[in-house]
Amino acid sequence: MLDSKRFYSKLGNMYPPSAMNSILLPKPGVKMIRFTGGSYDVPSLPSAEVKTIYEEATPQAWAEMLQYGGTAGMPALQKELSTFMAGHKIKADPAKEIIVTTGSQEAIDLVSRVFIDKGDNILLGAPTYLQALSCFRTQYPKFVDIPIDADGMNTQVLEEKLKKLKAQGKSAKLLYVIPSFQNPDSSLMTMERRKAVLELAEKYDFIIFEDNPYGYISFEGPMPTPLAGMDKSGRVMYTSTFSKMVSPGMRIGWITANPEFTGHMIEAKNNISICNDGLSQYAAAELFRRGDVERQIPKVTKVYRKKRDIMLEAMETSFPKKAKWETPKGGLFLWVKFPKNFSTDEVLKDAVANGVAFVPGSLFFSKPVHNYMRLNYSLPSEADIVTGIQTLGRLLK
Ligand SMILES: Cc1ncc(COP(=O)(O)O)c(C=O)c1O
Repeated sequence: MLDSKRFYSKLGNMYPPSAMNSILLPKPGVKMIRFTGGSYDVPSLPSAEVKTIYEEATPQAWAEMLQYGGTAGMPALQKELSTFMAGHKIKADPAKEIIVTTGSQEAIDLVSRVFIDKGDNILLGAPTYLQALSCFRTQYPKFVDIPIDADGMNTQVLEEKLKKLKAQGKSAKLLYVIPSFQNPDSSLMTMERRKAVLELAEKYDFIIFEDNPYGYISFEGPMPTPLAGMDKSGRVMYTSTFSKMVSPGMRIGWITANPEFTGHMIEAKNNISICNDGLSQYAAAELFRRGDVERQIPKVTKVYRKKRDIMLEAMETSFPKKAKWETPKGGLFLWVKFPKNFSTDEVLKDAVANGVAFVPGSLFFSKPVHNYMRLNYSLPSEADIVTGIQTLGRLLK
C-alpha cells in the first residue's frame, strides 16, 4: 500500500477530506431535501437564452470561443461588465481594471495569493463565507473577527480592534467584507456603516476586498451602493459573479481593482488557469448585450422572495420558540440562532437520516461557535421547503 501521507506538501495537508462534506454530498438514489448550498432555482435557469446564443454564433465567434484568450478576459465581456458596474456607481476601465475569473471563488484565491502573507492581520466578519475563510487560511494569516448583526459589520468594534492593533505597534492589511445580504446570515450593511468602513480604511491604511454575489438579489428596492462605488483612493477591490443572478454553472465571476493590483493578479491567474473558458465568456457577453441579464435578475428575485416567504411561514409554525431569525431582505439564506449550549452539528446527523440537509453554522466562524444553522431556500421546490422545514422542526423540538 502506498504511504500517501508522506507525499503531501504543507498546503496539501490543509485539505483533508471533510467529514461534513461527505455527509452533505448528494448520494445517488437517496432522496434528500437540500437546504445546503446556494444553488440556482432550476426552472429559472436561462437555458433557452443560452441555447439561442450558441445557435446564432457566427464562424468568427466560434473561432474566438474555441481559441486561447487573454488572461484578463474576453474584451467584449470586460466591456459589458464595465457598463453593468457603472449602473451601480462602480467605475472600471474594461481593459485595465477588470479580470474575468472562474466564479468569484477564483477572485478570492487571487486576492489570497497576491495580498496575504503569513501573520498578516486580516479583518473579517464573524460569521463570514466559509470558502473565503478556508482559502485565506492557506496563507496562515491572523484573523481579526468583527461581529456581524442585522446591519452588517459592527464598525464600532472594527474601530476598537484597529485602535488596539495600533497600540500594540501592529496594523491590519486587508478587510474582507460581504456588505449586501452576506453569506451566511443575509445581513445588509447600512449606508452609515459603509461610509464608516471606508473612513476607517483611510485612517488606518488598509485595503478592502468587497465580495458581492448577493446584492443583486434584493427584495426591497435597488441594491445599496457597493463600497467600490464610494471608494476615492483605489483601495477597494470588488468581486461579483453570475452564480446567484444568472447561472452558477457558467463559472463567470470577475474582480475589479486599480490597474496596479490587477496587473499582479493577472500574473497570478496565468499560473492557475491561463484564461477563462471562451464558450462561457461569449455567452455571458451576449446575455448582457441582449438584455437577458437585466431581465433575469428581477425574474429570479421574484422566485426567491416567494420561496423565502414560504420558508418563513413554515418555520413560524414548525420551529421551536427558542430558535430566532431575521427576515432576509435579499440573498438566498435564512440564518437561525439557537441557545448558546445547543449544537446544530449534532442535529445534522439526525436530519440527514430523515432526508433533510442544512449547513451547520460552525463552518462560518474562524473560532468554535456551534449554535447556528444556515438554510438555503433558492434550490428546493416550494413543496419540499414545507416538508423539509416540518421535518427539521420536529427533530429540533
Ligand atoms: C460570499 C460568497 N463569495 C463567493 C462565492 C463563490 O461563488 P462563485 O465562485 O460561484 O462565484 C460564494 C458562493 O456561494 C459566496 O457565498
